[in-house]
Amino acid sequence: MKVSIIVSSKTGNTRKIAEAIYKELPDAELYNVENAPEPTEYDLIFMGFWVDKGTADAKAKEYMQTIKSTHIALFGTLGADPDSQHAQDSLKKAAMLVPDCQIIDHFLCQGAIDPALIKWMCELPDNHPHAPNAERRKRWQDASTHPDMSDCHNASNWAVATLEKANSTL
Ligand SMILES: Cc1cc2nc3c(=O)[nH]c(=O)nc-3n(C[C@H](O)[C@H](O)[C@H](O)COP(=O)(O)O)c2cc1C
Repeated sequence: MKVSIIVSSKTGNTRKIAEAIYKELPDAELYNVENAPEPTEYDLIFMGFWVDKGTADAKAKEYMQTIKSTHIALFGTLGADPDSQHAQDSLKKAAMLVPDCQIIDHFLCQGAIDPALIKWMCELPDNHPHAPNAERRKRWQDASTHPDMSDCHNASNWAVATLEKANSTL
């Protein structure tokens, strides 16, 4: 089975997860989305994105929209808790970008938020919807250490299980 790992990452969090996946799948090919090959060449694509405004980021989105009729394993990082409703909604929106594909499985974990974005939000007036509040500051703090070793370990294990699952269905 021909397998690719395609990753879109702005600040490196999702790239870390892609590398953890690649470590366990040495026969797969790893590409940044900017240099990704034609998706038609692959039986299984591990597609990595970062969550931008509740869906896959623009570069991942653009590539995902070219993927037709293959098997996909979606992985992503986001600032929010991966068990939150926001994370589930973001994943659903990302999955909607590949309607012709069979999604074998998915993996999400938290990723530190770009300090430039935090700085921008800290300068917003108090009445702005994105202005910092106690809950938001806690989320930034929680995210700041991710992806950590445990996230990478979980991603590696997930990749192995997902490949096995794909092998048994293909
Ligand atoms: C412009 C921008 C928009 C973002 N939007 C969201 C969002 O809607 N939900 C969320 O949970 N995290 C959001 N984040 C946080 C990123 O998804 C998170 O930090 C991610 O790990 C970044 O991945 P990367 O390092 O691979 O670029 C946003 C970050 C930026 C910079």
